[in-house]
This record gives sequence, C-alpha cells and structure tokens, in this order.
Amino acid sequence: MTEPLLVVRELDKNFGGVQAVKGLSLEIAAGEIVGLIGPNGSGKSTSVNLISGTMRATRGQILLGGRDISTATIGQRVALGLARTFQTTSLFPEFSLLDQVLLGAHTRFDTKAAQAIFRTKSYRQEDAAQRERAADLLEFMGLLSVAHAPASAISSAQQRLLMVATALATEPRVLLLDEPAAGMVAKERAELSEIILRIRDRGVAVLVIEHHMGLIMEVCQRIAVLNFGQKIADGTPSQVRADPAVIDAYLGTEH
Ligand SMILES: Nc1ncnc2c1ncn2[C@@H]1O[C@H](COP(=O)(O)OP(=O)(O)OP(=O)(O)O)[C@@H](O)[C@H]1O
Ligand SMILES: [Mg+2]
Repeated sequence: MTEPLLVVRELDKNFGGVQAVKGLSLEIAAGEIVGLIGPNGSGKSTSVNLISGTMRATRGQILLGGRDISTATIGQRVALGLARTFQTTSLFPEFSLLDQVLLGAHTRFDTKAAQAIFRTKSYRQEDAAQRERAADLLEFMGLLSVAHAPASAISSAQQRLLMVATALATEPRVLLLDEPAAGMVAKERAELSEIILRIRDRGVAVLVIEHHMGLIMEVCQRIAVLNFGQKIADGTPSQVRADPAVIDAYLGTEH
C-alpha cells in the first residue's frame, strides 16, 4: 500500500458516561475507498465528526499527509484537504446549486471582502474561474441542468449529491461521506456508486459510511466495522462479509 494519507490512531470520544468511540485506528491511502459500517449508534458519525474537527477527540491522534491535525480547527482541516458531508442534509434552501457549490469553493479560495466590493479585475477573474469550476463540478455530479434552481426545489437524492459537490469544491485530498445514499432508490444509488468511483479515480481518499451493503460492497476496497464504538473488523469486502463477529454484530442474515 502507498503511504496512507489519513491516519487515525487510538481515537476515543466520551460523552459523559457514553464511550461513543473507543481506541479507533484507521488508515486510508490516496485513491482508496474505505467503508465504515456498523449498527445504529456504533460511533460511525462520531468518528467522522472527530476526523473532520466538528468534535474534539477525548484521546488519540489524527494525521493528514503526515501532519498532526488533532487540534486543528475545521477550517484548518479543510484548507489542508479534508472535506465531509453530513448524515442530515445541510444546505441553504434559497441558494441556487451554483451558489451553494461556490460557497464551498470560497472556503478554499478566499478573496478579500474589499476586492469583492470594488470588483477589482483580479476578483472578477477569480470569480469567473470559480464559476466555471463550480459548473464543472455540477456537471460531474449530473446536476448541471438544475444549476440555477434553488436547493430546496431539487429531489432529496439531488440534495445529497449537491452536498458532495460542495465538499468537492474545497478540493479535498480526503473526503468523508456520512450516509450519502440515505433515502435514495436503487437507480440513484447506482449513480452515486459511479460518482464515488470517479472521485476515487481523481486520487481522492474516500471514507464512506453507509447502511446499504450493496453500495458498500460494490465501491469499497476495504471495510472497517464498528460495534459499540470499537473496530471489530477491517478487511476486504469478502473478508468482512464472512467474518463471524461482523455477521453476529451487524450483518445478521438479512444483508
Ligand atoms: N453530541 C452527542 N452527545 C451525546 N451523545 C452522543 C452525541 N453524539 C452521539 N452520541 C452518542 O454516541 C453514540 C454513537 O453515535 P453515532 O451518531 O456516532 O452513531 P452512528 O454509528 O453514526 O449511528 P447511526 O447509524 O444511527 O447514524 C450513540 O450512543 C449516541 O447516542
Ligand atoms: Mg450516524
């Protein structure tokens, strides 16, 4: 395996008496898609919150490209190439899709307010370049035809894709997806699988949380399984599917 881009070492997160994450270690390389699965409440979203900086870990270390980001702010992590989507849709309903994606781009290419107000030449050039990139991203996600619609007017599946597009606008090296296929029908899930594979092909490391095993088995090279905050397995899809501890804790017979 190439040098891992994201390294998580012995992460703990306690909420009062609840140990949501216990001793989680995980590595993801550039161009790798890793699945994070487990029962409801097993600590998947908390893990993503810790890695993205939404929450601070009680203990442990997070390295991005060899750099310790354990105490970095969300903004610093985004600037270093870490982006995520949320389990619940988080969009500005009145914004057009294009403006929503531009918002993601702005977190990366910050232009000084004064330049924006006086519309200097460099601002106009940067603005035009960002609009073109945002449109390219919407095209990549199959959303270009609705680029000027308000985010509230598109389907929930399209809103999920828009969250991914906004995250991609920050030009991440590592992308964390928390249940990106929630509420999607089979055809939409298949499209999402394609998109995740194409994101990987761009050299991005992807961590995907998902309950839908079809999607996970199809796109992931490796799958980590959480149960009660602890990693109980980490292997290829076929290894994980055949693991008695995973079957017992999560897969059961219905998956
Ligand atoms: N902000 C919080 N305050 C207190 N407890 C929390 C908080 N966030 C999560 N928890 C608890 O931590 C545990 C792990 O929750 P988490 O949301 O990470 O699970 P999950 O694996 O993402 O579950 P799901 O599949 O339902 O999304 C749960 O017991 C949950 O109640
Ligand atoms: Mg969750």
